[in-house]
Amino acid sequence: MINEKQMNSLFLDAEKVSVFAYAPYSKFRVGAALLCEDGSVVTGVNVENRSFGLTICAERNAVCKAISLGKLNFTALAISTPDSAEPVGPCGACRQVLGEFLAPDTPVRFAGSNGKTVNTTMGELLPFDSLHELRD
Ligand code: THU
Repeated sequence: MINEKQMNSLFLDAEKVSVFAYAPYSKFRVGAALLCEDGSVVTGVNVENRSFGLTICAERNAVCKAISLGKLNFTALAISTPDSAEPVGPCGACRQVLGEFLAPDTPVRFAGSNGKTVNTTMGELLPFDSLHELRD
């Protein structure tokens, strides 16, 4: 389980990394930070492309980085969207990919720039998740 101090720190990691987002088209930067079971943090940003459909979201970028580093188990996720005032949650595609690796009770926090913070869980973001039987 993650405590409030760790979650605050994870959100700061997401906020800090968002400056590296490559978002020249939308001008909407996103930073994501995954807390791994081993205590390390893996971050990701959105990476856009002039062929718009090829854009990679920050959350999926973080997941792919973490898996590539051999990290498979995650304790929490934080997402920062500094270019929106209101909190913006992960898109549907990201929810599906996150649901592959984050247990339903995994805490997720997201916030924009107005100070409002959403604290939720993977299971709330992707209810009625299916096809678990296909794994292992
Ligand atoms: N974006 C993310 O990185 N994560 C999300 O969950 C929502 C959208 C990015 C994609 C695009 O670069 C920009 O935000 C605007 O949609």
